[in-house]
Amino acid sequence: MAYEFITTHTEGEKVGVITLNRPKQLNALSPQLMVELGQALKAFDADEAIGCMIITGNEKAFAAGADIGAMATYSFADVYRDDYITRDWETIRTIRKPVIAAVSGFALGGGCELAMMCDFIIAADNAKFGQPEIKLGIIPGAGGTQRLPRAVGKAKAMDLALTGRMMDATEAERAGLVSRVVPLDKLMEEALGAALMISGYGRMAVLAAKECVNRAYEGTLADGVMFERRMFHALFATADQKEGMDAFVNKRPAVFKHQ
Ligand code: HXC
Repeated sequence: MAYEFITTHTEGEKVGVITLNRPKQLNALSPQLMVELGQALKAFDADEAIGCMIITGNEKAFAAGADIGAMATYSFADVYRDDYITRDWETIRTIRKPVIAAVSGFALGGGCELAMMCDFIIAADNAKFGQPEIKLGIIPGAGGTQRLPRAVGKAKAMDLALTGRMMDATEAERAGLVSRVVPLDKLMEEALGAALMISGYGRMAVLAAKECVNRAYEGTLADGVMFERRMFHALFATADQKEGMDAFVNKRPAVFKHQ
């Protein structure tokens, strides 16, 4: 598939890497870029060899937001009637395999929201996160006002959404927005290491773990615990559970068949 605003490749035959590629615009997320991103994610999700995906940008920017130039003249009718954002930003929510955001440089506005739609964020030490939409006379529109408080709590989410200030990688890690911070030159190595590790596990356990953690993020504790318990029970019906436990008991590496 030929893309204009992203590139894709695989690593170790198991990891699908998607690189946002509008460097001159700091990877501003235009509608076409988001359509291409959705297509690439779906293609990797459908590829049996792939166990995990990474979305990344470049040293200067993961993405500096939705494309302000493209949005500047939109009317209410344009965005409401044509379902702006909903129509092409939410494909990522349908992706079942894990997606890691490897963030260096700016992750602002829609860029921060895209990173938060990934399953976890690994940040380079030069990463900067923020929801600066308030400065443009708008608010976050791709889940930022909802996912940010869940990730960092109300106080910091309010601070960021109302002042539009940026948060550096150290503050983002302290607040719980990112899972790891690494030196810039180690970012892809770290993300690939995690992605390859995930890809080596039994696929059904991986999908179940992602679904269950998302329940915690989106639903009530009682429903989430019940959902987890049933998924946990269900995994005892898989060959991978027999293999994983037999391998442990017999002190040998497990070879999962994703069955
Ligand atoms: C379109 C953008 C852009 C964006 C940067 N550029 N961000 N174009 N949309 N979001 C373009 C600039 O116009 C400029 O183009 C080039 O990228 C380089 O940017 P500079 O501003 O010259 O770089 P710098 O001085 O290093 O400043 C970096 C920056 C600044 C602090 C990140 O670019 C900035 O504030 N960008 C906007 C951030 C923002 O407000 N994001 C939220 C967008 S709204 P030229 O042609 O001049 O070289 C949003 C809504 C989400 O995301 C709602 C739902 C998704």
